[in-house]
Amino acid sequence: MPVINKCLFPVAGYGTRFLPATKAIPKEMLPILTKPLIQYGVEEAMSAGINTMAMVTSKHKQAIKAHFQPHPEIEASIQDTPKAPLLDEVNHIIQQCNFTYIEQQQMQGLGHAIYTGKALIGHEPFAVILPDDLCTNDDDSVLLQMTKLHAQHPDCCIVAIEAVPMHAVDKYGVIDGELLPDSKNAYRVHNMVEKPTPAEAPTNLSIVGRYILTHEIFAVLETTQPDKNGEIQITDALLTLAKQGKVIAYQFQGTRFDCGSVKGFVEANTFFASKFFSS
Ligand code: UTP
Repeated sequence: MPVINKCLFPVAGYGTRFLPATKAIPKEMLPILTKPLIQYGVEEAMSAGINTMAMVTSKHKQAIKAHFQPHPEIEASIQDTPKAPLLDEVNHIIQQCNFTYIEQQQMQGLGHAIYTGKALIGHEPFAVILPDDLCTNDDDSVLLQMTKLHAQHPDCCIVAIEAVPMHAVDKYGVIDGELLPDSKNAYRVHNMVEKPTPAEAPTNLSIVGRYILTHEIFAVLETTQPDKNGEIQITDALLTLAKQGKVIAYQFQGTRFDCGSVKGFVEANTFFASKFFSS
């Protein structure tokens, strides 16, 4: 059974939908209550048994690296006070995980960001988390559900999908496929379209920010042409593998918040706040 050891976090984007907040602060450091989005992502990767976190960053994202390093001065200042436990969770992550970093020099799309991470991955399947898609589930995390499915289909890439309203499909990569035998939520993908109009969309099953990718994706990305905006799309690279029957789309159990949008970010804060204040 192939084990997923590494999770890639493409976090080099500018987060322009969240300006001016993201002018100096990385989008991934915006907090849901007191915890930044990137920490939720790392915790989800850990819940799937992963302990190497490979970050594709940019020179503007130093705060992400700082978040996953010890801060002796703050620790000394809260030691022996009621605030001492507030750093426990992140310190646990720092102790358990290995963090690696590479810079994406220019914003050339998610596919390019993932290709930039090749040097951090090695010759093995790996997970990808886009931390602005915050996923939560009472039972197995979304990434754990996906690693279990990948174990049954080790030659395939797995993409997480969600049914979105038809009018919203133009924000996503949309899949077409057929259910695997005996499955209610996993599709063999035949086609994928990046940001279609509702009229062009084959379904409303939209790809969200969780992937398990086989190493084969890097060879495909190497020859994937940029789109009309000059961006290399991971959807285009996955389509090449889908045509070979090597992509499975998985409709996960759980809730996703699009925290890259103000609406999703507020909804996530409201959801976690109501849980926190009722506990
Ligand atoms: P988004 O499409 O959400 O872009 O990228 P963005 O820059 O983060 O946000 P907006 O749209 O300007 O508000 C999806 C994911 O891909 C990463 C982003 O950091 C985000 O995690 N990404 C995107 C890169 O790492 N590099 C890129 O060139 C593009």
